[in-house]
Amino acid sequence: MADEKKYTQPMFKADELKGKTILITGGGTGLGRSMTEYFMKLGANTIIASRKQEVLDKTAEELRKSTGGKILPIACDVRKPLEVEKVIEAGIAEFGEINGLLNNAAGNFVSPTERLSPKAFDVIVDIVLKGSYNCSLLLGKYWIEKGIPATMLNIVTTYSWTGSGFVVPSAVAKAGVLSLTRSLAAEWAKYKIRTNAIAPGPFPTTGAFSRLFPEGLKEKIDPLKRIPLKRYGDHQELANLAAYLMSDFSAYVNGEVVTIDGGEWIYNAGEFTGLDAVPEEMWDFIEQQVRGKKK
Ligand code: HXC
Ligand code: NAP
Repeated sequence: MADEKKYTQPMFKADELKGKTILITGGGTGLGRSMTEYFMKLGANTIIASRKQEVLDKTAEELRKSTGGKILPIACDVRKPLEVEKVIEAGIAEFGEINGLLNNAAGNFVSPTERLSPKAFDVIVDIVLKGSYNCSLLLGKYWIEKGIPATMLNIVTTYSWTGSGFVVPSAVAKAGVLSLTRSLAAEWAKYKIRTNAIAPGPFPTTGAFSRLFPEGLKEKIDPLKRIPLKRYGDHQELANLAAYLMSDFSAYVNGEVVTIDGGEWIYNAGEFTGLDAVPEEMWDFIEQQVRGKKK
């Protein structure tokens, strides 16, 4: 019998990421933390970077215990190139080299666009887009100079290509990150640097759900009603995919964006998919009507 909860289990069993040192931005919380934990379980050294040192320290302590792996927590605002440079220097000093980057840090909130100040727009675009290209550029220069083969993975969203009202700064910035992914995949493959992206649908985290589905809004858009598989993503299934894309098993995958959303975006894009709300018994009546048009 098929194991219905297989997706909650680690996919790789061995030290598939041994020898890798991966910088994870926003690795102290949410999905970044879950992916970091799995990378460590698979033998990778990790560096987690975000603004709050105390959050990073706590996560690092907990992940050392749960995985037995090595982790360096360093405060850094990804919007500031000098701070990113310091993280890279500290990571190299600690582990010898860095050969993986997970651009995961983000900022977001729901709001009608006309209510935003230019600064509110800036704050999201700067964290998401500028933060991603700062890390990609500075690590990329180092990899190219030292001849280090490397892997980059960017976390985007499905509205990177559909766009979305009410999260416009995030949509604009994530579209930029998707373009960064494809552009660098083409340009830097010659240096043995692969670049891919993951577009998750809703995965419960405090950071995202408190800002995107706060009380009062949840009743208006219940994300579960939009997902044909009728469940949220499990952190482990995202971590499984991220580990694959970070590992050498995906050596020929470059410039790809993998959607992991239970079919959400395609379901809501299809003109007629909402008809699955029509009860079975009503279809006889509808069929008669439609066939009747022939006469
Ligand atoms: C309108 C807002 C606002 C809101 C902030 N601003 N919140 N405007 N509605 N809800 C405005 C402020 O008034 C200010 O502009 C400007 O934005 C900067 O706000 P600050 O609070 O000073 O910024 P800061 O302290 O740097 O905080 C950044 C943040 C915050 C992005 C606003 O939410 C944050 O730290 N987020 C990090 C984590 C996060 O967002 N995680 C969720 C990722 S989820 P003025 O002009 O007034 O000074 C995600 C999922 C996508 O991306 C897909 C899901 C399915
Ligand atoms: P989260 O826990 O809020 O993660 C965001 C992280 O980014 C935090 O650790 C935050 O830490 C860090 N960060 C924010 N601004 C920063 C800055 N200027 N410099 C450095 N780090 C910064 O939310 P999440 O749900 O796990 O989101 C993780 C990623 O998944 C994001 O890219 C998000 O867009 C994407 N995503 C999530 C979902 C979902 O349903 N959860 C769906 C699609 C895509 P500090 O506040 O300490 O800086």
